[in-house]
Amino acid sequence: MKKKITILGIETSCDETAVSIIQENTGGNPLILSNIVSSQVNVHKEYGGVVPELAARAHVEKIDLIAKKAIEESKIKIQDIDAIAATAGPGLVVCLSVGLNFGKTIAQSLKKPFIAINHLEGHALSPKLNSKINYPYLLLLISGGHSQFLSVEGLGKYKRLGTTIDDAVGEAFDKTAKLLGIEFPGGPMIEKFAQLGDENYYSLPKPILNRGGCNLSFAGLKTAVLKISKTIKSDQEKYNLASSFQKTIEDILCKKSEVAFKEFRKNKKNKKNIFVIAGGVASNKNIRKKLINLSLKENFDPIFPPINLCSDNAAMIAMVGLEKYKKGINNKLDFPVKPRWPLDEKAAFLKGAGVKL
Ligand code: KG4
Ligand code: ZN
Repeated sequence: MKKKITILGIETSCDETAVSIIQENTGGNPLILSNIVSSQVNVHKEYGGVVPELAARAHVEKIDLIAKKAIEESKIKIQDIDAIAATAGPGLVVCLSVGLNFGKTIAQSLKKPFIAINHLEGHALSPKLNSKINYPYLLLLISGGHSQFLSVEGLGKYKRLGTTIDDAVGEAFDKTAKLLGIEFPGGPMIEKFAQLGDENYYSLPKPILNRGGCNLSFAGLKTAVLKISKTIKSDQEKYNLASSFQKTIEDILCKKSEVAFKEFRKNKKNKKNIFVIAGGVASNKNIRKKLINLSLKENFDPIFPPINLCSDNAAMIAMVGLEKYKKGINNKLDFPVKPRWPLDEKAAFLKGAGVKL
């Protein structure tokens, strides 16, 4: 019997230490043999954000153990791994270095190919772990550090259609949470608070909603939330603010997705297209619901990763590794850490572009 390709993935770009082993599965989605994620939430919560040095130290302390666990759980022999895929960027240099060097060391000692992975490409391909998706597809990537619409034309081929000109959506959730006294990362708790409040209680701004194509902006929203948060006197008002904030984000994402649909359809012959929504914020149930309804109305097939694969994990890194391995793509062991590594290298840097849009 032909041996099935088996890939070990490593992820340490921010505050999750993760190792996963996946295996090719003829005719179906790859099998996730193990997917271990060790979160550092407790390390960073008192600081209200990720502290790079503390994160790097925690990665160093944990990575061996997590890798051992992932190999044990997968029930494969280490020699049966065909390639090692590790995140090389974008992210925090001190954190990326830990997983990248660990991956290179394993690759060298096992004499297997080493594959450097772009973390954002991991999110982009994450739904391929459980859904059949053909290129091209429209991608909305919404995480703690990035908010972008991309046309995914093929493996490694990305055209950015729109991006945030200031904060990322996840960042907006986390900052709102902090103002409401919720510990980092606050996104999931804002979602819970939102269910208890009145979404029409506060009227919040939707920056660049009707201009700037499908580019996004959340800085003005954050300022409005800051002002209101100073007037809050009861828990109910807190819930109302969370609910109004959640509704505003949903409205912005829906309106901008409509613009992105139009952009994506240009030069595409397919009647029905695929819309993939990935990244930590894609685990928000109401955002999922709203974007599903909109997609179906607009003749797009909405696809999300399962909730546990929306936030950072190494199975998605192994997924990109598997696709690259099948195409014979690998990297030398001197591949550098890339703290800034856009998916569309040709797209202009837009942060702070507000006035020009
Ligand atoms: O993709 P991810 O795990 O890490 C990055 O690559 O950034 O995304 C983390 C972000 C955080 O900002 C977190 O608050 C947000 O995703 N997030 C959520 C939810 N779950 C995680 N935001 C809104 N609703 C959620 N349920
Ligand atoms: Zn991520």
